[in-house]
Amino acid sequence: MSPVQVRPAAFLGFDLMYLTKEEEKILEGEKGEGPAKAMELLLAIGKIYGADKLIPIKSAQIAGVSYKTMGDAGLQFVQDFAEIANVKVKAMLNPAGMDLTEKNYETDDFRGKQSRLVNAYRQMGIEVTCTCTPYLVGNRPGLDDHLAWSESSAVSFANSVLGARTNREGGPSALMAAVIGKTPNYGLHLKENRKPDVVYEVKDEVPYSLLGYLVGRETRDDIPYFKGFKPSEDDLKTLGAAMAATGSVAIYHVEGVTPEAEDFSTKNLEKIEIEEEDVDGIRKELRTEVRPDVIVIGCPHLSKSEIKELSERLKGKEKKNGPDLYVYTSRRVKEELGEAVAEIERFGKVISDTCMVVSPLEERYDVAATNSGKAAAYLPKLAEQKVIYADLETLLEMIV
Ligand code: F3S
Repeated sequence: MSPVQVRPAAFLGFDLMYLTKEEEKILEGEKGEGPAKAMELLLAIGKIYGADKLIPIKSAQIAGVSYKTMGDAGLQFVQDFAEIANVKVKAMLNPAGMDLTEKNYETDDFRGKQSRLVNAYRQMGIEVTCTCTPYLVGNRPGLDDHLAWSESSAVSFANSVLGARTNREGGPSALMAAVIGKTPNYGLHLKENRKPDVVYEVKDEVPYSLLGYLVGRETRDDIPYFKGFKPSEDDLKTLGAAMAATGSVAIYHVEGVTPEAEDFSTKNLEKIEIEEEDVDGIRKELRTEVRPDVIVIGCPHLSKSEIKELSERLKGKEKKNGPDLYVYTSRRVKEELGEAVAEIERFGKVISDTCMVVSPLEERYDVAATNSGKAAAYLPKLAEQKVIYADLETLLEMIV
């Protein structure tokens, strides 16, 4: 018996949103308790944000997968919900709290509970592909596709780089959207809410992780429009992740690069110039004289080209005594690049299904070095790490 009870529709004033006959039936419980509860939550969110209706989604990406962040209450909720609901659209998971196939720094108790949590999601029909880069492993939405994704860097990539449309969902709202196959029509699903608020003119070549760290912190939830650089897709992944971490940027545009950049005028917007010295301030903030005891690379999960680049840089080198090395990527990328992974594993471990932030890194380490702006922002808060930021070359010099 689930602890979840469906409340009467009128209680929440759902009459403010247009519902189809089919949706009304779901809300009234004709399709079962799970879909009714999912519908109730989606309509409550829709009411808060002024949505006019529900719209179909192509896919969901669900956060709330790590036992470290979910705890026993979260595990219980997902297990109970799995008894009464199944997903109706393609749905994938965010990173879990551990590599699902190999033991690393987590305890046996943690592994047991994490497995139960993942199995509950599997029971609902969700693909157990635990990654923050679903768009690199078979779930790549197209322009104007509506989604319910929850991992902030994946949300940023989907909206900005692919031109798909998703709000920054919480784990529960993405799950409920997957169960109904729809999401409330508000926020970034509407074109008028995707226009830029401020222009950043980037005058010098600066690392994308630090640029994102700086702009996210300044712009908070405004929508930035960048001019002055031509980033690769991996650069955009890095930039968006950092802005989503230090701010709550869910979409940005880059002139001549991202698909919606030319749809909006920037004529009357505030313009801010960014130079090397602005980014240098962040670099100094993240510098420390303490030696790292672990190097963590792969936030967001590394793409194929990033894994190949890393292995190329390590080829022919010998490992010296230094910090441990953990590299995080999706399982599919790891499996497809066996040779490159083996090269990297001469120096450390390549881990899938999880990441440095949502796994219990703090069980074994105190000081982590990273080249990711997002990891630099989250590791102190979520993994109790003192953090050192350095570029990839500097990180590798610590171990070869
Ligand atoms: Fe991905 Fe974990 Fe970073 S979920 S974006 S590697 S914090």
